Amino acid sequence: MSGPVASSAEIRVLTTPQELFAAAAEEVARLVSDAVAQRGRFTIALSGGSTPKSLYNLLATNARSSLLWDRMFFFWGDERHVPPNDPDSNYRMVNEAMLSKVPVPTENVFRVPAENLDAAAVAEAYEQTLRRFFQLKSGEFPRFDLILLGMGPDGHTASLFPGTAGLQEKSRLVIANWVEKLKTHRLSFTLPVLNAARSVAFLVSGIDKAAVLKSVLEENVSGEQCPAKLVQPKDGRLVWFLDRAAASSLADHK
Ligand code: 6PG
Repeated sequence: MSGPVASSAEIRVLTTPQELFAAAAEEVARLVSDAVAQRGRFTIALSGGSTPKSLYNLLATNARSSLLWDRMFFFWGDERHVPPNDPDSNYRMVNEAMLSKVPVPTENVFRVPAENLDAAAVAEAYEQTLRRFFQLKSGEFPRFDLILLGMGPDGHTASLFPGTAGLQEKSRLVIANWVEKLKTHRLSFTLPVLNAARSVAFLVSGIDKAAVLKSVLEENVSGEQCPAKLVQPKDGRLVWFLDRAAASSLADHK
């Protein structure tokens, strides 16, 4: 896949990061009430990194009393290969920013068991957790109500980095993806899982993301070079929440 991202992608440019997170929080609240009304529950895969932290803080404060926390089920789209109390842990970040502050039942939180030193075993265990929770038959992929994603300046998303083996995975749900430049495995959802979601929302903020965003949204680069480009939900919505700085190089969205 090399041409610009499908025109079906919704691109929302907000003036400031604060407005970006407020808009994303509204989107989450809307999707929660729709999913609970239609299916009795809301399933979300969270993103790590620094960008979404402000969204998690906002949900834990402004939406603490309005969200149906006991009907919400939390997973991680990727995790670093570290224990849950490690400063690099995406679980730790989300727990400190949101989950420890809201009335969500502990049994609704499914963290990646990344304390296990065997990365492949961690991926297998988390895949089994998804298969059980979504009651998947062989060959089926989980259909999350929402998957939150970020994007690195190199175009990686979740822990699917340029040129890594994980980009080729077609049947697994979770992989231990070796990232040479980080000299570590990362645990990550695979592309088929990302593209099976009902909604995928990218949160991208800051001038350091402007060049790669232009590549992903407007230029002919391969998905191998720019994995975020490979996120194309088969039967779902794709929304990019951008702030003006991140969108500053886009032709149509300045
Ligand atoms: C992670 C993320 C990763 C992140 C990007 C952007 O575990 O690091 O899931 O995909 O979204 O690296 O990170 P920032 O938000 O910190 O720029």
